[in-house]
Amino acid sequence: ADEKAAVKARIKSLLVSQNAVLVAHYYVDGDLQDLALETGGCVSDSLEMARFGRDHAAQTLIVAGVKFMGESAKILSPEKRVLMPDLDATCSLDLGCEADDFAKFCDVHPDRKVVVYANTSAAVKARADWMVTSSCALAIVSHLKAQGEKVLWAPDRHLGRYIQQQTGADMLMWNGACIVHDEFKGLELDLLKAQYPGAKVLVHPESPESVVAQADVVGSTSQLLKAVVELDAPVFIVATDNGILHRMRQLAPTKTLIEAPTAGNSATCKSCAHCPWMAMNALQGVLSCLEAGTGEIQVDEATRVQAHGCIDRMLDFVA
Ligand code: 13P
Ligand code: SF4
Repeated sequence: ADEKAAVKARIKSLLVSQNAVLVAHYYVDGDLQDLALETGGCVSDSLEMARFGRDHAAQTLIVAGVKFMGESAKILSPEKRVLMPDLDATCSLDLGCEADDFAKFCDVHPDRKVVVYANTSAAVKARADWMVTSSCALAIVSHLKAQGEKVLWAPDRHLGRYIQQQTGADMLMWNGACIVHDEFKGLELDLLKAQYPGAKVLVHPESPESVVAQADVVGSTSQLLKAVVELDAPVFIVATDNGILHRMRQLAPTKTLIEAPTAGNSATCKSCAHCPWMAMNALQGVLSCLEAGTGEIQVDEATRVQAHGCIDRMLDFVA
């Protein structure tokens, strides 16, 4: 504990002396989330992380999350140094949507607007018309549908299906999935709900259809957090990465939070729904960014300029 306190103190002083700020996602280690908040940084969903990094005056952004989050920060703020605690922290959606294959898919459907989820590489974003996150995907696809546009969607098939069902838009889909959310199980959730009749069910839209169908609230991490705080219920069943429970408990200490069941989830397995790449973020990694400048994100300029367009279009839309 003493060692941890010493590392935190050292990070705090280096953040100040290096004009750096810590931007963290809700799925990373609770110590990192707390540190971000204690030092004037932010803990949020991927949309807010992008906005916060872009608008903050710090010269260095330390992004605790996964690679696409660091890349989005760099794309929006090329003049800033963007560092990550572990550059190997990626995402199954990003890995499952390789840029050349994706470009070929787009090439055969030139009549469609290309809409990509934030969880993709800079090279994939460079091929897209729009980037969306789970907090604004519904609004943006509704807008495109109202304009008579057809959509090519990538890469998350569950989020894509949810948006398609809600909007009725014509969407052609890539077949990707999040390895964490894909594991939530509808049948087991149904049984769990029967044990807690008053519970509200909160679901991230990267989850399978049978899980989304049982949700009281479907939304991004920030939207699920808001629901825990605002909805008048004593018990919540949460179908998203369990890293978010840290902040939920802080903001709603009187409420009972239960993890939604996954395939391997049982009384003895309390941490099945946790992203292995988010878990690579640690205090030591942040310290190494500050002490040794490790984990710097680079995006080649031509790709960056191309990718900037689709992120900016989203940010203008939500502004
Ligand atoms: P949010 O934008 O909802 O924070 O989601 C990011 C993510 O990676 C979910 O798995
Ligand atoms: Fe990607 Fe899923 Fe991890 Fe989010 S939780 S970073 S979508 S693998």
